[in-house]
Amino acid sequence: MTFEEARAQFPVFERYAYLNAGTLGPLSRATLAAMDEQIRHDQELGRGGVAWFASVTALREQVRAQLAALLGTTPERIALTFSTTDGCNIVLSGLDLIADDEVVTTDAEHPGLLAPLGACAARVRVAEVTKRPTAEALEILLAQVTPRTRLIALSHVLWTTGQVMPVHELKAETGLPVLVDGAQSVAAIPVELGELDFYTVSAQKWPCGPEPTGALYVREPEALRVALPTSWSHLTIEPDGTFEPRVGAARFDFGWIAAPMLAGLSAALDDLPEWGFARAAEMAARCHAALVERFDVVTEPGQAGLISFRTQRDALEDAQRAYDAGVIIRNVDPVWLRASCGWWTSDEDIERLVTALV
Ligand SMILES: Cc1ncc(COP(=O)(O)O)c(C=O)c1O
Repeated sequence: MTFEEARAQFPVFERYAYLNAGTLGPLSRATLAAMDEQIRHDQELGRGGVAWFASVTALREQVRAQLAALLGTTPERIALTFSTTDGCNIVLSGLDLIADDEVVTTDAEHPGLLAPLGACAARVRVAEVTKRPTAEALEILLAQVTPRTRLIALSHVLWTTGQVMPVHELKAETGLPVLVDGAQSVAAIPVELGELDFYTVSAQKWPCGPEPTGALYVREPEALRVALPTSWSHLTIEPDGTFEPRVGAARFDFGWIAAPMLAGLSAALDDLPEWGFARAAEMAARCHAALVERFDVVTEPGQAGLISFRTQRDALEDAQRAYDAGVIIRNVDPVWLRASCGWWTSDEDIERLVTALV
């Protein structure tokens, strides 16, 4: 499929310069059709019939396999969740950290990771990476590691500044468990799991799935306690609630996912173009170059899909102004705006963004 054909699959691009996949990705016609079709199928088969239930269970496993392929791993290491937040909660509760333990993170984590960190017993040490060059992030993060560190938990791509964090280097240097918030990286930039222990997926963002959908990669599922079980977690369960967990990461599945959401996500994952990453990087570079000419750009060049910048006006009012001009971006800070560039971004989208804000 060519770029023009692939882009034409998304109705939203007919009206808007859509530059906010960092919040929610655009939905394609195929994704919308799959969701509609599943709603009809559910009604025709009767939700709850034996055949229907078997078809939804098969759909779950299909989506699990697709998410595994997206991350370059096996389905046994993928749990189905509704969000990155779910994934962070599953990991942080399962590790059973105590007050003497420490977790290292950055100063730009989204509440999806930050709130689960705040709720766990361990002391959280914050590495201040955002006001420094990204090349210094590894050193700054390592300086927070002590003999008490039990986990390093951070985003691969910071949602405020768009900086790409050295997640693999952190693992290699420390050998400690690493939990990566993949909300702004999965399907935005190529992700290799390597030796990382935990990696979350927000499927409603860059993978262009319906919301709420997500996943959690767990390298060694048997080594993490199932602290937040659902009715999907067990193989067998006793009258007192004692249960034998399912094999692999499916033990962390976070509950029943509505079949139309599964069908939509499956269609979205099917359609991610092979050339997507290369084109997304090119368009992010073009957007960066266009913004740098007129505004104060916060994001360093050559990061991922997020580009944050300042216009000297109120950011929320500017986001509204852009919206009125048919350009969808968001404010991420009292003074910053953030544009998300994906494979679908066109030169015209970038021009519309700049014109709306000058
Ligand atoms: C870095 C980061 N983490 C987590 C989240 C929350 O994602 P979810 O709704 O999938 O929990 C976001 C959403 O914007 C994000 O940018």
